[in-house]
Amino acid sequence: MRRIAISVAASTMTLSLAGCGVLNAAGDGASASPTKGNDITVGLLLPEKANTRYDKFDYPIIRDKVAELTQKQGKVKYANADASVTRQADQLQQMIDDKVDVILLDAVDSHAVAAGVQKAKDAGIPVIAYDRLAEGPIDAYISFDNELVGEVQARTLLEALGPKADTSDKIVMVNGSPTDPNAKQFKQGALSELSGKVTIADSFDTKDWKPENAEARMAAAIAKIGKDNIAAVYAANDGMAGGVIKALKAAGVTQLPPITGQDAELDAVQRVVTSEQYMSVYKSYPDEAEAAAQMAVTKLQGKDIQFDALTQDRVDSPTTKDVPSKLVQVSALTQRTIKDTVVADGIYTIGQICTAKYKAACAAIGLKK
Ligand code: GAL
Repeated sequence: MRRIAISVAASTMTLSLAGCGVLNAAGDGASASPTKGNDITVGLLLPEKANTRYDKFDYPIIRDKVAELTQKQGKVKYANADASVTRQADQLQQMIDDKVDVILLDAVDSHAVAAGVQKAKDAGIPVIAYDRLAEGPIDAYISFDNELVGEVQARTLLEALGPKADTSDKIVMVNGSPTDPNAKQFKQGALSELSGKVTIADSFDTKDWKPENAEARMAAAIAKIGKDNIAAVYAANDGMAGGVIKALKAAGVTQLPPITGQDAELDAVQRVVTSEQYMSVYKSYPDEAEAAAQMAVTKLQGKDIQFDALTQDRVDSPTTKDVPSKLVQVSALTQRTIKDTVVADGIYTIGQICTAKYKAACAAIGLKK
């Protein structure tokens, strides 16, 4: 997707100046689409709870940023679908019935949700796809550079295998949910780095991103390839990396191979400290969530110039071309970069990472205050 995400800064700026943005901002009352003040409600639909990011970061950050941008008058109405497509459809309908002003939508199933997006559109409610590119007539999209996530995971994995890595090295790929368009991009990004360099001995998608599904399928991969023949495991996120580690330990593996992850969940950062997991991908949730809140509020308040400045990339979904978008950068989290990523950004303190159980391991890698 990154390849088609072209920056159109100059042209959008011109467009909004020529369009109604300036007039709207001046509040001349003649605008075709009346804009709102600070008393707004943002509907936030998040996909699941197995991953800690949603309740711990995405929701509270968006809630606080909307409050800040609206002098504490704006509200966020939050619903989590707990990985259920039908529950999310109901939650979306509820937001429409409640007449929220804008919807931030992180889809469980990006394709199935299209009908709901159309309903919101028909009700005059703008929809901004959050983190996952929902199909249907969305107004904007904000996410991380997901292909880069896969590339960073794979490059770090190759680095862990060292210069002797070759096609005799057997890798297992534990990919994410087939209904999540990001999962496909993580996989593509990873394959662009791994192909031809190692052997992908087994590769599977994981329903709902569930750690227990990854664990069960990993157990089958171990049985097929042999517990001592797996050079490394590409796990698309931290939750599944946890499942993979359980499966390897249950099979009697004592020297764990390099395993990847994503999301910099606290458990995973601690596993990186103890070398059980080789890496995670740090994605700045504040960067993504705050930009989403800004997009929602500027959209409603008719601040077109600011909205355009926030959405200078263009992305095509299977149904909609040239969606105004913002793609946020990511970086690898390894033992060497814990301090410069999650600690520097205030996601976790060293105290939270280096609890009694991890004190010695933290000291061994020089992670201290
Ligand atoms: C992806 C998201 C990741 C992770 C994963 C599992 O869509 O980009 O950060 O949360 O879902 O829930």
